Amino acid sequence: MTASSTRRIHIFDTTLRDGEQSPGVALNHSQKIEIAHGLARLGVDVIEAGFPITSDGDFECVSRIAREVRGPTIAALARTARADIERAAAALEAAQKRRIHVFTSASAVQMQHMLRKTPEQVIESSVRAVEFARQFTDDVEFSGQDVMRADFEFVIRLYRAAIEAGATVINIPDTVGYGTPIEYGALIARVRDEIVMGRNVEISTHCHDDLGMATANSLAAVENGATQIECTINGIGERAGNTALEEVVMAIHTRRDHYQAETGIHTREINRVSRLVSRLTGMVVPGNKAIVGDNAFAHESGIHQDGVLKHKETYEIMNAELVGREAAVMVMGKHSGRAAFRKALQDLGYELEGENDHGLNDDALNALFVRFKELADRKGQIYADDLRSLVE
Ligand code: KIV
Ligand code: ZN
Repeated sequence: MTASSTRRIHIFDTTLRDGEQSPGVALNHSQKIEIAHGLARLGVDVIEAGFPITSDGDFECVSRIAREVRGPTIAALARTARADIERAAAALEAAQKRRIHVFTSASAVQMQHMLRKTPEQVIESSVRAVEFARQFTDDVEFSGQDVMRADFEFVIRLYRAAIEAGATVINIPDTVGYGTPIEYGALIARVRDEIVMGRNVEISTHCHDDLGMATANSLAAVENGATQIECTINGIGERAGNTALEEVVMAIHTRRDHYQAETGIHTREINRVSRLVSRLTGMVVPGNKAIVGDNAFAHESGIHQDGVLKHKETYEIMNAELVGREAAVMVMGKHSGRAAFRKALQDLGYELEGENDHGLNDDALNALFVRFKELADRKGQIYADDLRSLVE
């Protein structure tokens, strides 16, 4: 892969806006500032700091982040109403780099029942909103919610109008997580070929995880021309959540041969910011969660442990250290094999025959291994103290 063929994918983090919409989560100002600094250290390109019209508190918080956090572009959300856009612009005033993110709805069900507007009125209000937002900044993002349930001819017309009105980033939200990777990728390719090609406009992807396809859909978008991914730490967000930042970043990094792309994320910060968000939101990361779950780099079965002890790559596609975690761990349990058992005893400082005249000989090791299996059957996971009491 040559450097010139590698596309730079921008990471737009919306943990503080869409992520905070997770049921039961409410972050206070100092917690949000702490997360925003964590995101800046992580190297995200854009932080969506909030939706300033929703409350004075949100306005204050976006203003503080705009004042204090340096590095990423700071974005604020606004509906197409002038008051929303003015409030977003005011909150972003102190930012080094600012973006106003204007959104409307694109599906018939949302236009009819939520906006109570005809499709033509939606296009008209979107054009006015984007033009108005451009009076405050030359970085304006436009989104039409629920595109995957919308009429695609209308989606193309809506986004073409937004670009002509001055939108510099067009974001294609699968708001309810309805699309499949092939359908969503095909729509992104259509947007690229029919309305973006040849213009200085970025295509962005924004997926929700209702059917567990947010990561796959976001990556399908990258394969079809998107260069910005909207995502959250640990995939938190409304209902089943948003695309998980750590998953798309590590997929692009680990499979750079396939995606021919890279992000600017300092991957070694991933674990730290994941823990921070989990602690401050109270949302526990499941053990089997990709990249950041407790078990993501743990091996329990004897065959896997034996393989990893012989050569890490037998069962590992990335190093734990690369995402800021300790080297892969061997979990001792009923599936563990003799090789891992032996290694665990050595790590605890026990000497084995051959290393020392007084070390445990093969017979003793075999007898201990039988008792270890009996204990593991009863107890599940075996910890260092269990091993010590077995030996001693
Ligand atoms: O899911 C969604 O459609 C959104 C928009 C505001 C971009 O979060
Ligand atoms: Zn969303």
